Amino acid sequence: MFQKQRLTHQSRAVITGSGSGIGKALALELARRKGLIVCSDISLQAAEQTAREVRAEGGEAWAVACDVSDLAQVEALAQQAQELLPQPLNLVINNAGIGIGGQKIGDVPIADWAWTININLWGVIHGCHVFTPLLKGQPAAGIINVASTAAFSAAPLMGPYNATKAAALAISETLAAELSETNVQVTALCPTLVKTNIAANGRITGDSGALFNRLMDRFGMSAEQVARITLNGLDRGQLYVMPQLDAKLIWRLKRLLPSGYAVGTGLLNRFVSRTGSVTEEETTRGRLHG
Ligand SMILES: NC(=O)c1ccc[n+]([C@@H]2O[C@H](COP(=O)([O-])OP(=O)(O)OC[C@H]3O[C@@H](n4cnc5c(N)ncnc54)[C@H](O)[C@@H]3O)[C@@H](O)[C@H]2O)c1
Repeated sequence: MFQKQRLTHQSRAVITGSGSGIGKALALELARRKGLIVCSDISLQAAEQTAREVRAEGGEAWAVACDVSDLAQVEALAQQAQELLPQPLNLVINNAGIGIGGQKIGDVPIADWAWTININLWGVIHGCHVFTPLLKGQPAAGIINVASTAAFSAAPLMGPYNATKAAALAISETLAAELSETNVQVTALCPTLVKTNIAANGRITGDSGALFNRLMDRFGMSAEQVARITLNGLDRGQLYVMPQLDAKLIWRLKRLLPSGYAVGTGLLNRFVSRTGSVTEEETTRGRLHG
C-alpha cells in the first residue's frame, strides 16, 4: 500500500510523446515529484525542450527520439532508458498519439486508418510488449496508457480514433488482469477535451477541426491538471482515470442505457451532418457571391 502511494514520487520513468501536451505535463509533474525522466518523442527537439524544463523543475531528465509506431525504436528506447537511468525503471507512460476526425467510415482514406492505427494502437502495443517484462521484476511499478473517452463514447466522424482508443483501453484492462498478482499497477487515462496541440498536430478536417478547437478552448481541461489527476490516480491504484465529469457521465450512461446511448449518438450525427451541409451551402453561396 505504502509503495503504491509513493510510485509517482522519485520515479524512474519513460514517457512517449512527451514533447507536447499531456506527455509534457506528465513529465513536469513527475519532475515536481522529484522523478528521473526519460523524455521521448518522435521529435528529438521537442523531447529536449521538455527535458530542459524538467531539469528547471528540479527533476533529472534525458531526451531520446522514438517513433512509437516502430518496434525497433521502442526496443532501442527501452535499452537507452536502462542505460541512462541510475536506478531501474519503474514507470512507463504510453502517451504518444495523434488526433484524427471529420470523415465518416467509408470516406476516411485507408491511409489515414493505417496512420492512426500505427501510432495510437501499435504505439501502445509496442510500449506494453517491450516494457512490461522489465517492470515485472520491480518491487513497485506502473504503466499508464493514455486512451481517451473516445474509447467508449463512439462519437461520429471519429472512426479510426475511436477504434484505436477502444483497443488501448481493452489492452489496459487485459494487462491489469494479467498483472494482478504482480507489483505492476495499470492505469488507463480516459479524458475528454484537454488543451494541447493535438488538433494542430493531427488530421481533424473540415468543420470538425473548427468545432474541436472551439470546444477545446471553451471546455478543455489544462494538461497540467490532467497530469496531476492521472498520477494521483495511479498512486491510488485506479485502473480508470476519467479526469472530467462528462467522461464519467458518458461512461455510466452507456452502461446503464446502451441502446438509448446509441440513439443519442445517431442524433448527434444528424446534428453534425446538418451543420456540415449548412456550412457547405454557405460556402457555395460565398463562392457564388465571391
Ligand atoms: N488533447 C485531448 O483532448 C486528448 C483527449 C483524450 C486523449 N488524448 C490523448 O493524449 C495523448 C497525447 O496527446 P496530446 O493531446 O498531448 O497531443 P499533442 O499533439 O500536444 O502531443 C502529442 C505528442 O506526441 C508526439 N508524437 C506523435 N506521433 C508520435 C510517434 N509516432 N511517436 C512518438 N511520438 C509521437 C508528438 O510529437 C507530440 O509531441 C494522445 O494519445 C491523445 O490521443 C488527448
